[in-house]
Amino acid sequence: MINLGILVSGSGTNLQAIIDTIEAKRLDAKIKIVISNNPDAFAIERAKKYHIPTFIIQDSHFPSREESDKHLVEILKSHSVDLIALAGFMRLLTPAFIRAFPLKILNIHPALLPAFPGLRVQKKAVEYGVKFSGCSVHIVDEGVDTGPIVIQAVVPVHENDTEKTLAERILKEEHRIYPQAIQFFAENRVEIKDRKVMIKDSPKVEGVLENPPVKIFK
Ligand code: GAR
Repeated sequence: MINLGILVSGSGTNLQAIIDTIEAKRLDAKIKIVISNNPDAFAIERAKKYHIPTFIIQDSHFPSREESDKHLVEILKSHSVDLIALAGFMRLLTPAFIRAFPLKILNIHPALLPAFPGLRVQKKAVEYGVKFSGCSVHIVDEGVDTGPIVIQAVVPVHENDTEKTLAERILKEEHRIYPQAIQFFAENRVEIKDRKVMIKDSPKVEGVLENPPVKIFK
């Protein structure tokens, strides 16, 4: 069993996927607190429905982001969280926060890192014309979307895709890989060497994907 603190800013579908996987007894975790920097985040309503403690933190109530993050650290520590999951948390964390939980902060990002870090990355992927995109669960370090990668899922990008259609396809995969990544931590199967994450006793993935399909070889 792993104690989670979840940080959100928006609709909270990833939070919901984590809650649903716990309820289905496929994720051995307890959500100790859900924290939002946005008082109107629907994610907060989702948490309340399951009687999960919630907290709103607004930077404007603090003299600096560092002070706001220090408060965040205190709240998370007072709830004895083992792992912090950023689930659509749209604000950068200061180094003081990241150093308070070394290798204990996960993020879900809607692209295949290190391609397309930052914001509105589904739009960037469509505009660039990549044939595949996807999502990445990674450990948060002091860079922007640069930390060690735990799991990635790949989806095709279709010729008529828009930012919205691609985002929906990616989001479905986010909802599968994020609970799985957290479960790896709950099972104590995660080893990190240099910047490589290894999952103990995980089968090797075989096969290749091409888009469009290669037809000239039989
Ligand atoms: C998700 O697509 C997540 O990957 C993305 O925000 C969305 C949140 O959706 N996160 C980022 O872009 C982080 N930089 P949700 O609130 O429904 O989980």
